[in-house]
Amino acid sequence: MELKPPRGTDDLLPPISDAMLGLYEAAHRTARLYGFRYVETPTFEHTELFARTSGETSDVVTKEMYTFEDKGGRSLTLRPEQTASIVRAYLANAHDLPTPFKGYHVSPQFRYDRPQAGRLREFRQFGIETIGAAAPAVDVEVLAVGDRFLRGRGLAKVELRVNSIGDGECRPAYREKLIAYLEPHEAELDEDCRTRLRTNPLRVFDCKVDGKTPLVLGAPVISDNLCQPCAEHFAAVRNGLDAAGIAFLHDPRLVRGLDYYTRTAFEFVSGALAQAQAALGGGGRYDGLAEVLGGPPTPGVGFALGLDRLLVALREEGASLPGALGPACFVVTIGPEAGEVGARLVGDLRNAGIPAVIAFEERPLKAQLRMADRSGASYAAIVGEREVAASTAILKRLSDGEQEQVPIGDVVNWLSRTDWAAER
Ligand code: HAM
Repeated sequence: MELKPPRGTDDLLPPISDAMLGLYEAAHRTARLYGFRYVETPTFEHTELFARTSGETSDVVTKEMYTFEDKGGRSLTLRPEQTASIVRAYLANAHDLPTPFKGYHVSPQFRYDRPQAGRLREFRQFGIETIGAAAPAVDVEVLAVGDRFLRGRGLAKVELRVNSIGDGECRPAYREKLIAYLEPHEAELDEDCRTRLRTNPLRVFDCKVDGKTPLVLGAPVISDNLCQPCAEHFAAVRNGLDAAGIAFLHDPRLVRGLDYYTRTAFEFVSGALAQAQAALGGGGRYDGLAEVLGGPPTPGVGFALGLDRLLVALREEGASLPGALGPACFVVTIGPEAGEVGARLVGDLRNAGIPAVIAFEERPLKAQLRMADRSGASYAAIVGEREVAASTAILKRLSDGEQEQVPIGDVVNWLSRTDWAAER
């Protein structure tokens, strides 16, 4: 039996699982600070949902979906992203939900991608969506949440890049203009770029080989070709970001890999990661998405941040990871009498809300102290025969071995006065 998990997936175990949990908790806190409500949707959906919304020529749909037929002959797909699911769920339940609806998720996504550092087949995202509001202030708020979350984690090398990719009014004409510019040079483009030129010309700016050649860099850009309403919206978003003190760069060649975007498109890019995995997160507006699903016109905007990638970036930057979450106290006892005292102590600690553990079987002192260390505990409370006789315990700080004798009745108070979570 193979014990390694499938390629591109990870077992999250302490201390990495603690760090991930720290990110989840920060995500919940940050989203709720802005009034976003927690949302869960199914892990798999009808394949059609993603095929229709991500775009038939997108990498997600052409290469990366985990699609299978269930026993009832339905084509289902493990969700490669969350936006389409949340909009679907919103449309199905709109009458019961407030407008605009502000929802967030912290959840695994699945893409059949080539695994490498920061690129997995099962990965975790924190995302938010505001559905039912078109004002530029909504885009600004969404960006503010992402910016606050990333900076709050201690990242320094992160840049917000913003663009507008227009809408159904202005993008078709721009598309023709871009094709007219590139077509005479088609032979100079690599195969990937040539395919994009035919299927989704804006994605030429994203080509791995030719995306940065003088030819592509010289191409007309969408943000110079916006219709009046899109241009005004984009100007208002930029002014709003300035007013909110959120640093950003207008990147006129920023395009997104999913097809549902209109107007605002953005990415949070890490300067600490290899270019192919540098996007810590991305998002934008998707004012036409609800209609693709057969719903009424319903504007929306949101983002998703890759949490696995964020952990890699934190490590690369040398930032401290969210702390390990071992118990406050490991109760070590020697002898049957001490065992009883210890069992009472561990109960008292838990009743006082202080995480505590105790060995289940009698072990020598040294072995129990080793267990205490491995448990990730901050302190060991040692009760031997001498301590039982004196009604005391020895409290030993495991990070540096410093210890103090404390009356057994004072252990709970003593530990509640220490900053035990910071002592590891
Ligand atoms: P996305 O750009 O496809 O957008 O993914 C967002 C983030 O998820 C990426 O920037 C990256 O950090 C992470 N990510 C994507 N693929 C992988 C992978 N294979 N391994 C690890 N991390 C990955 C979306 O998913 C949209 N739903 C965002 C959105 C929300 N747009 C509007 N609302």
